[in-house]
Amino acid sequence: MSVRIVLFGATGHTGGRTARALVDRGARPVLAGRDAARLAPLADQLGGDAGPLETVTADVTDGASVRALVGRGDVLVTTVGPFVRLGEPAVAAAVDAGAVYLDSTGEPPFLRRVFEEFGPRAARSGATLLTAFGHDYVPGTLAGALALAGAGNRAHRLDVGYTLDGVRGQAFSRGTLVSLIGVLLEPNHAFAGGRLVTEPAGARLWRFDVGGRPRRGLSVGGSEHLTLPPLAPSLREVGVFLDWFGPAAAVAHRLAPLTPWVARVPGARAALPRLADLVGRRVAEAPSTDGQVRTSVLAEVRDTAGELVSAVRLAGPDPYDLTADLLAWGATHAAERGVRGTGALGPVQAFGLEALTAGAAGAGITRA
Ligand SMILES: NC(=O)c1ccc[n+]([C@@H]2O[C@H](COP(=O)([O-])OP(=O)(O)OC[C@H]3O[C@@H](n4cnc5c(N)ncnc54)[C@H](OP(=O)(O)O)[C@@H]3O)[C@@H](O)[C@H]2O)c1
Repeated sequence: MSVRIVLFGATGHTGGRTARALVDRGARPVLAGRDAARLAPLADQLGGDAGPLETVTADVTDGASVRALVGRGDVLVTTVGPFVRLGEPAVAAAVDAGAVYLDSTGEPPFLRRVFEEFGPRAARSGATLLTAFGHDYVPGTLAGALALAGAGNRAHRLDVGYTLDGVRGQAFSRGTLVSLIGVLLEPNHAFAGGRLVTEPAGARLWRFDVGGRPRRGLSVGGSEHLTLPPLAPSLREVGVFLDWFGPAAAVAHRLAPLTPWVARVPGARAALPRLADLVGRRVAEAPSTDGQVRTSVLAEVRDTAGELVSAVRLAGPDPYDLTADLLAWGATHAAERGVRGTGALGPVQAFGLEALTAGAAGAGITRA
C-alpha cells in the first residue's frame, strides 16, 4: 500500500495552496481540518475525475482527533498555526506514531523546541521531523549549504540574508501576521562561538547587498543555526537575517535589548495573543500581493580573518507559492523515496544536497 500523505490545516490560506501543490504533483492527500463542511468542497474540487479526496476532521483542542490522523510511516504535513500556540498536538502525534512530519512554521521558539524537545523523542520512536519547511527557512538552508560546500575548512562564519522585492500592500497572510505578533517578545537564538545561544529577535543587524541595493537584515532564530553547523566542523558563527522591515529595521535593532525586560512586565506576554487576534480580525486572510513578490536569499561564508570565502545567492517566487511547493515536494519525496534518518533533521540531512537542490529548483528556486 502506498504511503498516506495527510495535510492538516487544508482549509487555511497556506494549507489550501499546499493541497493544490500536492495534487499538482500527482498526490491524493487526505485533507484534515476542524470544519467538515469546508473540507468537503475542497476535496471535491481537488479530487478531479477520480472522485473527492478523503477528508478527516481534527481539532488541536482534541488531542485524540489529532493522534488519529497519522499512523506509522505516514507523512503528516501541518500548516495549523500559530505554531507556538497550536502546533504541539500535531508534532506529538507524528512522534508517537513514528511518522514523517513537515510543518510551515517560521516561529523561532517552536522550531527550536522541535529540535531540542521532540527530536530526541522522534529518534527513539522512528519518526522524522522536518520543521520550518517553507520559505522560512529552506532557501537559506540550501544557500548556506551550497556556500559551505564551496568554502571547505576555511568556513568560520556564515551569514544568511532573506529579502523580499515587489511588496506593495499587505505582504503577509493573516496567519503569518498573527504568528509574527505572537512571538515578538519570545527569545530567539543564534549560533555564536560554536554553540547555540539565546538572544532577542533583532539583536544583530546585517548590512548586505542584493541586486545592487543595500539591505538591512534583522537577526532571527532560523533553522539554519541548528542544521548547518554539522555540515562544516570549522563553522563557529551563523547568523540569519530578514530584510523585511525597511527603515523600521534600524529602530527595531536599537530596541531589541529591551525585549527581555518588556517580556517580564506583568501581563505583557499574555497581551500578545490578544493583540494578534485583534490584528487578525482587521486584515485579509490572503496577502494583497499574490504573485508579485519575489524572494531572494544571500549566503556569505567568511574565514577567521573576516575575508569572504564563498557566496551563493538564490532567487525564488512568491513566498506563499514557494512554501506550498516546498512542502508538497518534501512530502511526496518522503512518501515515494523515504528520508535519510530519524529525529529532527534539516532538509540537507533528510534528502541530501543534490536532491534538495533539484527539489528547490522544481519549486522555482534558481541560482542568481
Ligand atoms: N515559514 C513560512 O515561510 C510560512 C509561509 C506561510 C505560512 N506560514 C505559517 O503557517 C501558518 C498558517 O498560515 P496561514 O496563512 O495558512 O494561516 P491561516 O489561513 O489562518 O490558517 C491557519 C489554519 O489553522 C487552522 N486552525 C486554527 N485553529 C485550529 C484548531 N483549533 N484545530 C485545527 N485547526 C485549526 C485553521 O482552520 P480553519 O480554516 O478552520 O480556521 C486554518 O486551516 C502560520 O503560522 C504562518 O506563519 C509560514
